[in-house]
Amino acid sequence: MSLHGLANMTLGVPNVDATKQFYREFGLAESDNGMFASADGGDQLRVVESPYRRLVEFALAADDRDDLDRIRTAANACDIAVTDHDDGSISMSEPIVGISAKVTVRPRIEQPVAHSWQSMNSPGNPARSGTRAPAIFNQGSARPRKLGHVLYTTPDFAASMRFLTDVLGFKVSDTSAGMIAFLIWSTDHHIVGLINAPVPFFHHSSWQVNDLDEIGQGAQTLLAVDPGRDVWGLGRHFLGSNLFWYFRDPAGNFAEYYADLDQIPEDAEWDARDWAPDKSLYAWGPPVPKAFVHPDDVEEIAAALQGQQGVS
Ligand SMILES: [Fe+2]
Repeated sequence: MSLHGLANMTLGVPNVDATKQFYREFGLAESDNGMFASADGGDQLRVVESPYRRLVEFALAADDRDDLDRIRTAANACDIAVTDHDDGSISMSEPIVGISAKVTVRPRIEQPVAHSWQSMNSPGNPARSGTRAPAIFNQGSARPRKLGHVLYTTPDFAASMRFLTDVLGFKVSDTSAGMIAFLIWSTDHHIVGLINAPVPFFHHSSWQVNDLDEIGQGAQTLLAVDPGRDVWGLGRHFLGSNLFWYFRDPAGNFAEYYADLDQIPEDAEWDARDWAPDKSLYAWGPPVPKAFVHPDDVEEIAAALQGQQGVS
């Protein structure tokens, strides 16, 4: 009985067709219902029309109704309204940035074991002796296994953290100097991340692939269409330890391929720490581009939000 990951997300963009084409090339499969599916997680991305780019909703997956009842009680205690949906799920509006946080009962994602790192030659361990690397035969785009996490910014870090921990029941897996926090529910080091920034905007979605080779394969496919999609990578994050490469979709959202994320079973003695700023971003990789921290369209989003407030 617990919460076990991200079920799906809804992205709002002004250019739906172009954005959908990007996620096809990213390696997600378009379903008959218009959503985009990962290999193991099924339908996990919905792209809808919005005047500016934003994360409209993230849906969390729970084992059973008890989990939903627990969250409903916590939301009531914090004076946060809960909406009931016909499919039995519940949703709440994040009190600072207004993203819809839905919680839905669904089975845990089953993940068949991939070939991968176990078969790599390394000093003293010729695990692939006498054969070529299977990766050299890989073709086409990457095929993400599941939606791993979403990161968004908030101008009220403490209040947004309270929503994630006190209402939704997340635990903190690592933080860095009041700038960034990673939140865990099940075994993945983080499924939601929060960034402290004056303007609220969606930073990135992250999609699990098998290994380093598949990150490179996906990058090659995306950059062959448009080298301008490259944001930051290849590298390894410090917090979560995962390998990463980020790309920009046509609306300006970042989409990450990741592999080898820290896994933290419930009974593990995990040392959740507050790390110095120099550890907040990466262990190795190219220099961090300015646009990764401060995307080019932040002022545009700020103006759109101000206009919206003026209207309402
Ligand atoms: Fe990420």
